[in-house]
Amino acid sequence: MHILLVGSGGREHAIAWKLAASVQVERITVAPGNPGMSAEPRVDTIGIDVSDINALEAFAKAHNVAMTVVGPEAPLVLGLVDRFKTAGLPIVGPSQAAAALEGSKDFAKEFMTRHKIPTAAFKTFDDCEAALIYLQSHPAPIVIKADGLAAGKGVVVAQTDAEARAAVQDMLRDGAHGVAGSRVVIEECLVGEEASFICLVDGKTALPFATSQDHKARDEGDVGPNTGGMGAYSPAPVVTADVHKHVMRDIVNPTVAGMAADGASFTGFLYVGLMIDSSGNARVIEYNVRLGDPETQPLMMRLESDLVALFQATLDGTLDTIEADWSKDTTLGIVMAADKYPAGSSRGEQIHGLSEASMTGAKVFHAGTSVDDDDGKTVTAGGRVLCVTARAKTISEAKALAEQAAAKIHWPNARWRRDIGHRAVARSERSDNG
Ligand code: AMP
Ligand code: GLY
Repeated sequence: MHILLVGSGGREHAIAWKLAASVQVERITVAPGNPGMSAEPRVDTIGIDVSDINALEAFAKAHNVAMTVVGPEAPLVLGLVDRFKTAGLPIVGPSQAAAALEGSKDFAKEFMTRHKIPTAAFKTFDDCEAALIYLQSHPAPIVIKADGLAAGKGVVVAQTDAEARAAVQDMLRDGAHGVAGSRVVIEECLVGEEASFICLVDGKTALPFATSQDHKARDEGDVGPNTGGMGAYSPAPVVTADVHKHVMRDIVNPTVAGMAADGASFTGFLYVGLMIDSSGNARVIEYNVRLGDPETQPLMMRLESDLVALFQATLDGTLDTIEADWSKDTTLGIVMAADKYPAGSSRGEQIHGLSEASMTGAKVFHAGTSVDDDDGKTVTAGGRVLCVTARAKTISEAKALAEQAAAKIHWPNARWRRDIGHRAVARSERSDNG
C-alpha cells in the first residue's frame, strides 16, 4: 500500500519510521517531509506544502494512495479531511468541524461546559476594556489565551496583574496574534502536573495510546519561554491506573460522545492536555486534534502494534475490537533546537555527529534540517532541529542514553535540556526509597 503522510517535523519523521516498519507498506510519501525521513526505507518526499489542499488531493488521486495521515493541525483546521472524504480518499484525521476543538479555544471551552467535562473556569472576550475590567476582579496568577491557532505562542500564564493586563492589551488592542487573538479566553490558572493523553478515535470509540509528558518551557527547571516542546517521555507515571480510568470515564469518552451528539463526530488523534492535581483529579488544559510533537517520537518508539492496522481500524470504525501493544520500556526524546528558539531559528549550520549518535542505539528524528545543495551535508533549517530518542528499562537509563547520543551531535550554539524526564526520575527515586 502507498501511504501519504502530511507534515515535515520530528513527529512526522517518527510516524514515517513506524509506518515503514509495517509489512503492509510498499511506499510512504511525505509532503513536504525532511531529509531525515528520506533516509528511511521506502520513504520519499514530495515538495507540497501541508496547507496546499488542491495539490495534496491531486497527488493522492494520481498515485493511487491507499491512506493519508495528517500530522499538523493547520491542514485539519483548513478542512483537508472533508475534501479527501468528499473525493472518496481514505484519510485519518478530524473534519474541519471537529478540528475546532483545537482551532478555537472558545469552541473547546463552550463544548466542555456543555458536556460537563472538567476544565478551568473561563470567560471569553473580544472587547479589550471589558477584559481589563474582568481582570480587576480576577487577580493573577491567571491565564490569557488567543482564541485561534497561534503556533503555540498564544498562551500567557500571567504571574502578575501587570502581565495579565499587558497580554490582554497585546492581543485585543495591538493585534499581537492577528485574527487568532482578536478574541481571548481568560481562564483560571490550574496547578498540578501536566500530562499528554492521546487517543486514536474512530467517531465512537477512543483507543488510548500510551501516556506521555512533554516539557514546554525552553530552559532547565521548566522555566523560560513557552515552546512547542523541548523533550518528552513515555509513560508518564503521574497517570496512575486510577487517573487513567478517571480520564477515560470523565474526559475522553464524554468528549467523543459529545462531539458525536453535536453532529461533529471525531475521528483521528485526540490529544487531551491534562493538569492533574495532587489528589489525582484531572482537568483539561487544552485539546489538540493531532499527535503531539515531541510526544510522538517516544510514543512511536514504544509502540509494538502495526500502526497501519491501527489506522485501518480507525477508517473502518472498528477500534472497539482491537488494542495497541506497548513496550514495557520507557522512551525519552530530547529536542535539539536553535539557540534562538522559540523566537528564531538556525539556518545552514552543518550538523556534525549524526552517525556517531545513531551508533549509540538512539534514534535521531529530524525536524528542521535540510541538505546543503553544494556538498550534500545535513544542515540546520529551523527552530527545533532534531529529537534524539532512546529506549531503556528505566526512565533514568533512557535519559542517560538519549543524553549520551545528543552529546555526540554538534552545530554552533545548539540548545538542549539536560533535565528531560526529571519529574519521572524523581518519582522513581522516591519509590526506590520506599
Ligand atoms: P497551550 O499552548 O494551550 O498548550 O498552553 C501552553 C501551556 O500553558 C500549557 O502546557 C500549560 O503549561 C500552560 N497553561 C495553559 N492553560 C493553563 C491553565 N489554565 N492553568 C495553568 N497553566 C496553563
Ligand atoms: N508538545 C505539545 C504539542 O504538540 O502541542
